[in-house]
Amino acid sequence: MSASRRSRRTRGWSSVAAVYDRQLALERPALRSLLTMLRIGVDEALLDVGTGTGGLLRELATIAPRPKRAVGVDDSPQMLERAAPVPADWEMVAADAQRLPFAAASFDVATATYLLHVLEPTVRAAVLAEIHRVLRPGGRVGLVTIAPPFARLTWPLLRAFSAGAGPLAGLRPLDPAPDLLAAGFTISARLPVRRGYPSLCVVGRR
Ligand SMILES: C[S@@+](CC[C@H](N)C(=O)[O-])C[C@H]1O[C@@H](n2cnc3c(N)ncnc32)[C@H](O)[C@@H]1O
Repeated sequence: MSASRRSRRTRGWSSVAAVYDRQLALERPALRSLLTMLRIGVDEALLDVGTGTGGLLRELATIAPRPKRAVGVDDSPQMLERAAPVPADWEMVAADAQRLPFAAASFDVATATYLLHVLEPTVRAAVLAEIHRVLRPGGRVGLVTIAPPFARLTWPLLRAFSAGAGPLAGLRPLDPAPDLLAAGFTISARLPVRRGYPSLCVVGRR
């Protein structure tokens, strides 16, 4: 992957990397809820797709016992550089989530938090297909998106600012269930979270 293609795709995220952590407190309630829903075992391998500055992995690291293998993937090296609080033995990989550099069926659990709603529909489908490929049969996927009711409250603002795939799409609401079903997952749990960003946690099974 050339550095210029990578920088084009996630240029917006790289430009906000230095300040991204200032809003992590608003993500935390939903990230914690998702981890409670997933109950990741110590022997399970976790892949966090679009990990950014490792917000979910940092939360997971506070839960004992934590899984021995956890990998964060992001296409923005600048976002990954800010993920230093993630445990040193966990892997951080710069890669496009549409072409994950992992073998089929090599993870038990995959997460994608505050990612799918910032992607264009075709990219979203490609990312979910890749997550499906790298999960073992029976593996779980955990998603957090901005909850749709939020859209009604902020629709004029969203319509003006949430086009495209960069940081301005960060508040674009999405129920990921239809995309998850289209990618071949079944849905096993849904939970709206009102604290922090109004969010929707969805767990699916491969
Ligand atoms: C809104 S941030 C979410 C970060 C993190 N998951 C969190 O919960 O804070 C979206 C992240 O997805 C990454 N991203 C966007 N498109 C991607 C792609 N095609 N492949 C890998 N990462 C991507 C961006 O670089 C950015 O770090």
